[in-house]
Amino acid sequence: MTFPGRLDGKAAIVTGAGSTPGPGVGTGKATAIVLAQAGASVLLVDIHPERAAETLEVIEKDGGTAAVFAGDMTSSTDAEGAVRAAADRFGSVDILVNNIGVAIAGTVADTSEADWDRSLALSLRTAFLVSKHAVPVMAAQGGGSIVNIGSIAGFRGTGNAGYSAAKGGMHGLTVDMAYSHGRQGIRVNAVAPGHITTPLMYSVLGETPETEYRQRLAAESTMLGTEGTGWDVAHAAAFLASDAARWITGVVLPVDGGVTGVTPLIMADRLRAVPAPSA
Ligand SMILES: NC(=O)c1ccc[n+]([C@@H]2O[C@H](COP(=O)([O-])OP(=O)(O)OC[C@H]3O[C@@H](n4cnc5c(N)ncnc54)[C@H](O)[C@@H]3O)[C@@H](O)[C@H]2O)c1
Repeated sequence: MTFPGRLDGKAAIVTGAGSTPGPGVGTGKATAIVLAQAGASVLLVDIHPERAAETLEVIEKDGGTAAVFAGDMTSSTDAEGAVRAAADRFGSVDILVNNIGVAIAGTVADTSEADWDRSLALSLRTAFLVSKHAVPVMAAQGGGSIVNIGSIAGFRGTGNAGYSAAKGGMHGLTVDMAYSHGRQGIRVNAVAPGHITTPLMYSVLGETPETEYRQRLAAESTMLGTEGTGWDVAHAAAFLASDAARWITGVVLPVDGGVTGVTPLIMADRLRAVPAPSA
């Protein structure tokens, strides 16, 4: 039996397939590149098409196939347009990766109603809308695979009420879709990344010694003691999207170096050994 992890002949949609400018790679960009490397044709969906165009350039240089779709996935019209564009261009929609999400800081007490709505719109509504339009297409063609990018913030407190609510919602949506559409041949899983180093993180925290220190702590707080990147999320998403995962559905897979599997007090001893940046 040959390894079923290849994606030759499959058509994929990745939402948020561009990357916020900055060091490292976003999970959407990395996932699109890895899916293309595995043989899929990939529709690169982004509200900033110039960012998706950078991902396209990497894929084409690699000899892969992709196309850019510019649109706002909080809009049902644009979400439907993205699904139609993939079906028209590639002939099917076999894989959907719902990657868009943004962490807006604030507890319930200090989050504005506008920020709450934005959190839910970006980190949950986008996945609902694109899935709503992709599922009937997948069902009509006999199946497909959906991977939602969740977060450990969906089951751990982070001080970002809207984000945690949206990511917890993303995990719940995953299980519900897996149940509701399993008999249509559609598998639905989620990847829940831990603290990973992405350009989005640098854009929020800045490229400072304090950010480097925080990243060192993030690495040291995992069981492995190493840093996670967008590529780690991408490889997990590509596996779940592929036929190698044909009997896996309704799963939320933490990709977090083991950080959610250990108690904070135990890790505190290790974190004490990390020198703080000099003032
Ligand atoms: N960095 C971490 O530590 C971490 C941890 C857990 C989960 N995550 C999740 O990973 C994902 C982050 O993805 P990324 O690193 O690729 O982020 P990113 O910001 O680099 O890329 C996301 C892309 O989405 C696009 N986008 C934003 N709103 C959009 C919209 N309405 N319609 C279409 N496109 C839109 C942006 O233009 C951007 O290019 C999010 O879901 C985030 O919650 C990150």
